[in-house]
Amino acid sequence: MIEVIEAARDRKPLPAEKIREFVQAVVGGRVPDYQIAAWLMAVYLNGLDEASVFALTAAMADEGTTPPRMRGRVDKHSTGGVGDKTTLILAPLVSSLGIPLLKMSGRGLGHTGGTLDKLEAIPGFRVTLDDQELARQMDEIGVAVVAQSAWLAPCDGIFYALRDVTGTVDSLPLIASSIMSKKMAGGAPNLVLDVKVGSGALMKDHTRARQLAELMLRIGASRGIRVTALLTNMDQPLGQAVGNAVEVMEALACLSGQGPEDLREEVLTLASHMVSLAQMVAPDEARLRVEKALDGGQALEQWQRWVRAQGGDWLAAERGLPLASSVPVTLGRRGVVAQIDTEAIGRAAQWLGAGRQRKDDRIDPSVGIRWYARLGQSVEADEPVCEVLAPPGIRRDQAMEMLRQAVAFGSPRARSQAVLDIVS
Ligand code: URA
Repeated sequence: MIEVIEAARDRKPLPAEKIREFVQAVVGGRVPDYQIAAWLMAVYLNGLDEASVFALTAAMADEGTTPPRMRGRVDKHSTGGVGDKTTLILAPLVSSLGIPLLKMSGRGLGHTGGTLDKLEAIPGFRVTLDDQELARQMDEIGVAVVAQSAWLAPCDGIFYALRDVTGTVDSLPLIASSIMSKKMAGGAPNLVLDVKVGSGALMKDHTRARQLAELMLRIGASRGIRVTALLTNMDQPLGQAVGNAVEVMEALACLSGQGPEDLREEVLTLASHMVSLAQMVAPDEARLRVEKALDGGQALEQWQRWVRAQGGDWLAAERGLPLASSVPVTLGRRGVVAQIDTEAIGRAAQWLGAGRQRKDDRIDPSVGIRWYARLGQSVEADEPVCEVLAPPGIRRDQAMEMLRQAVAFGSPRARSQAVLDIVS
């Protein structure tokens, strides 16, 4: 182990076999946390040569892969954002075109929401299925979104928990190997990455986001996975809804051909690229198929089948999930929205109980935010920039103050379109 740490410290490449032994020793519990942490910090400070990143990612993936029966044809991954409910729409939309989609999703992390927490806002929805149930559901309806199994790329869980507490999350080789090991282990031959950029994203800067996307494309190519990456805008929340039940309702609106324009555009672009890779057609042709499925009701019917298959009460969702009482937030001054601290909006939602402060906190599905102010928009003094969904009390007052501070007036510098760039 000392040799592995020293190589990272001195920027010396290691043979792939040594890296594999290291990963196996980590998963086998034979490396103490302080040695893993020292290695993570060395990689954080010095980076890692590309051959070692490929070897590391492959070794992490090979330590826990999905059985062939449970593999989808296409997968997607988002690096995490505020108001990102795209999986809820993409899963039924893409699978309604006959493309099997099995997505392993996560819970909220810090200020970013998690797909599993959103799905659990639907009464009865089960995010944990046993292997047989999962395989049967894939056979019958071709779609499932479930919690990541403990056996899937377990090394990432060990690294991630240590990165979280050692200041080593924000490292391109560590992020790329974390994401791509899970996607390789999931076994889909096609992958669309949603790399979020901006004030609410892990990557605040466009150039670094592009570097991350390109690195992940090369890792995919090294294992024969066809990858397209979208750089998407997190300088403002995606859509209006931020929370759990409120995001499910917005996803359902989008599936019914309504909902905010930026959300629809991002979903259509992501879905087109997923379909293009999976069905080997040009993105423009794929987009026509996707628009037809969304606007013709096919995706909505598949949503009903999917929610029902995982035990969820789809009718309750259709009638409207319970939401906490709402209060408007105004700024008391007028101006043009120049900048939005999107991370602060995510933190306000987390503070209200839509996310967790500590690992075992309970989520309140009914709380959240409806965010109205868009970049470049003129806002009057008494015009709400957002609405807070929460019971009255000190927490709500504090969240409202956080949200007031999240808007800066002036001349807009950030771009407002949903999809910023496509890398393939
Ligand atoms: N998402 C992941 O899965 N891993 C990272 O390291 C960062 C974002």
